[in-house]
Amino acid sequence: MTVRELQDKILQLKTDTDTCILAHSYMSEDICEIADFTGDSYALAVKAKSTPNKNVIMCGVRFMAEMVKMLNPEKRVMLSNPIAGCPMAEQMDKELIEQVKAQYPGYAVVAYVNTTAELKTVADVCVTSSSAVKICRAMPEKNILFIPDINLGTYVKEHLPEKNFKLLSGGCPTHAKINESEVLAAKKAHPNALFLVHPECRPEVVKHADYVGSTTGIMDYAAKSEAKEFIIGTENSIVQHLQFAHPEKAFYPLSKDLVCNNMKATTLSDVYRCLTGEGGEEITMSEDLRRSAVKCIEKMIEYGG
Ligand code: 13P
Ligand code: SF4
Repeated sequence: MTVRELQDKILQLKTDTDTCILAHSYMSEDICEIADFTGDSYALAVKAKSTPNKNVIMCGVRFMAEMVKMLNPEKRVMLSNPIAGCPMAEQMDKELIEQVKAQYPGYAVVAYVNTTAELKTVADVCVTSSSAVKICRAMPEKNILFIPDINLGTYVKEHLPEKNFKLLSGGCPTHAKINESEVLAAKKAHPNALFLVHPECRPEVVKHADYVGSTTGIMDYAAKSEAKEFIIGTENSIVQHLQFAHPEKAFYPLSKDLVCNNMKATTLSDVYRCLTGEGGEEITMSEDLRRSAVKCIEKMIEYGG
């Protein structure tokens, strides 16, 4: 079967089974083409609310599917490939954060959206990569325990010198492995290119950026910019999507190693098998867990996220 034939079968099955397909921007082009919505994790969970479909398939990693379920409890939510987890989201557990909280009484816990539903239950406020600075600024608390990403936490801390931050040493293994020498080499190879980077990268990398933002932020910036060349400091699928969308511009990966194997685990065949009932995993959670975890997202919305 060709990719096109499989895509046609998926499109038919979507209609037959009343299913909406969400694809994170790190998915491959063949999956994005059959999705109803593509974007970053939080935006997709919100988009799911606007669809009349009873069933939702999340093509991304587990915490993203959990968030779709948290915001859409009445829908049947499937993770298209159950082995797709996010190492950062699963690095810290509730017990560890409760111990740290006890050492820092009075600190508000701010959790990056890349966390499990269980970890969100101990957070006061949730943030996305694009809203983190804005939300932490809007919070009345001066003392903030930021989990789990030390790089995003450092980026926020640098923008808010008026607040006290306690950071823990979690992070994304894919973004954190990039170092400054790779940035300098990419800039030397492409001296006219703007450098767009995700804040999950280390501060030594982020400090060279012309723009820092989420996956959607990077894509929007590149689309609107007058510049013709860009070095992309996030997962390499974004380089591919941008090159398809803007053939008149040139996009260079910051490093060939910027590949998230968890995101790459999902294939078009997984989506097909999920629709036929032969694959995927339904995301379930108790109503108690859901209500407790969703509170930090409601707080984020209250603070303008
Ligand atoms: P976004 O929220 O920017 O899509 O990022 C999710 C992610 O996993 C980045 O590595
Ligand atoms: Fe998680 Fe990093 Fe992969 Fe994003 S790129 S899903 S943060 S491991």
